[in-house]
Amino acid sequence: MALSVIALAKCNDYNSATINPPSQSPSVSNNARWQPAVGTTWQIELLGELKDTSANVDVYDIDLFDNSKSTISTLHSAGRKVICYFSAGSYENWRSDKNQFQASDMGKALDGWPGEKWLDVSSSNVRAIMRKRLDMAQAMGCDGVDPDNVDGYDNDNGLGLTKDDAINYVNWLASEAHARNMSIGLKNAGDIIESVIDNMQWSVNEQCAQYSECDTYAVFAEKGMPIFHIEYPKGDDTNNSNDVTANQKKKACAFDGSEKFSTLIKNMNLDSWFQTC
Ligand SMILES: *[C@@H]1O[C@H](CO)[C@@H](O)[C@H](O)[C@H]1NC(C)=O
Repeated sequence: MALSVIALAKCNDYNSATINPPSQSPSVSNNARWQPAVGTTWQIELLGELKDTSANVDVYDIDLFDNSKSTISTLHSAGRKVICYFSAGSYENWRSDKNQFQASDMGKALDGWPGEKWLDVSSSNVRAIMRKRLDMAQAMGCDGVDPDNVDGYDNDNGLGLTKDDAINYVNWLASEAHARNMSIGLKNAGDIIESVIDNMQWSVNEQCAQYSECDTYAVFAEKGMPIFHIEYPKGDDTNNSNDVTANQKKKACAFDGSEKFSTLIKNMNLDSWFQTC
């Protein structure tokens, strides 16, 4: 009995290999790619180099540029997966590859984020830079990427960016990440979910409870994907490690369907401090 099952499995493997010959592209098949489950626990720390690798969570979301391969190896050794964050839709004037952007790639400054400008996401130069960032993420061993600022269309960007531009860009980022065997999630950008969700492996959302938008993102859980959700109930008062009050916690955690969300309560500077619901 056992033998025939093995024989059948081998036969199926052979058949599927025959039916689906390797394509010319370097893309990796869907079933090999990392797909975290609904409710996956996580920590996000973007304030410089990761200091505390010991949070008891499944996934760490950390800055691509500020961390090293060895930090990622340490996290992997502890059985954690690693998502690498970078800004895909804004120029940041402190990144090591900043000189590769052209003046024509840049639009208006981001409101409230000094040193950042919206990027023309259709620019072939911008896309070439993002390909190199994805190469870097792959070389560092990132399991997935968290490309930020893909919702320029929803902001005064100075480039005329549209929703269609964002859809095209996010789907392009997904194909590039997948070709490197990395998973990818949609950061915020609720307006474009239905046009990109089939290429995504999760959602990263900020403040859907605060803005009563969590229903918009719930579709990710319906499709079996986690919603990595951050709330900042302490507001701008970030430089402290004080527990949230019961009322602040309720604001972050009590919404319809919240049990399906991977909610973190964070300081706005995304330092190591966090609380869960
Ligand atoms: C792709 O990633 C998955 C999940 O991390 C891993 O199991 C698989 O071995 C990788 N495939 C390749 C071809 O590297």
